[in-house]
Amino acid sequence: MNLILLGLPGAGKGTQAERIAQTYHIPHISTGDMFRQAVRDGTPLGKEAKSYMDRGELVPDHVTIGIVEERLQKDDAGGGFLLDGFPRTEPQAEALDVLLKRAGRTIDAVLYVYVPHDTLVKRLTGRRICLRCGATYHILFNPPKQENICDRCGGELYQRDDDRPETVERRLEVNQKETDTLVRYYRERGILKEIDGLGTIDEVFSRIKQTLGDVTDD
Ligand code: AP5
Ligand code: MG
Repeated sequence: MNLILLGLPGAGKGTQAERIAQTYHIPHISTGDMFRQAVRDGTPLGKEAKSYMDRGELVPDHVTIGIVEERLQKDDAGGGFLLDGFPRTEPQAEALDVLLKRAGRTIDAVLYVYVPHDTLVKRLTGRRICLRCGATYHILFNPPKQENICDRCGGELYQRDDDRPETVERRLEVNQKETDTLVRYYRERGILKEIDGLGTIDEVFSRIKQTLGDVTDD
């Protein structure tokens, strides 16, 4: 299955992507995770991306499209993929269409997870991530058993630089218009599936599974 997860920052894309990837055996490809890894590795890509990410702005399209194109050519993406946080602009969506067409592939569904603004702010400012394995927690909604320690691997939890309250509002503002454009783009193509992102993590995942069940039945 070739899937896209669309949604504003904090909608739960990464959280749901982990579950979808495991259940449907497809790689989870997150441009945000790829940029953060490049920042940690201190590569030229990381240095360029960091200046945009820290301000809550989007990394330029040509950079982002390039890394996704390269990633989709890896063997593990041959049997399907789940894109999280890409495309995020109309030029990115058009570029993806071109490169999939060239490979004789199509997108099966675009899962648009929608959540109200005040909930997004609460989710982002309370998020914590494991330094070692990348697992995501929330100090109130999904806390680790032991404060600041990852349940899964015992690693230390940290707060993303762009989850500081002053950057969160900017990110939401930057992404709102682009997300609305992409919702229209994929709705016109008949592949947009709207998912109510409120409720527990398990409730949202059940809705996604039900929707994907309908997609595979088509
Ligand atoms: P990216 O890493 O993609 O960040 P984002 O889009 O801002 O989205 P988030 O990762 O913040 O949110 P999410 O939807 O994954 O939520 P999560 O599951 O973690 O991108 C970062 C930056 O990289 C961008 O700002 C940009 O600079 C750059 N970039 C990336 N892609 C790009 C592109 N295509 N083009 C240009 N630039 C790009 O959940 C959030 C919190 O809520 C967690 O704490 C979680 O535990 C909690 N939570 C989740 N679900 C629930 C629930 N149902 N109930 C209660 N809590 C929940
Ligand atoms: Mg994410």
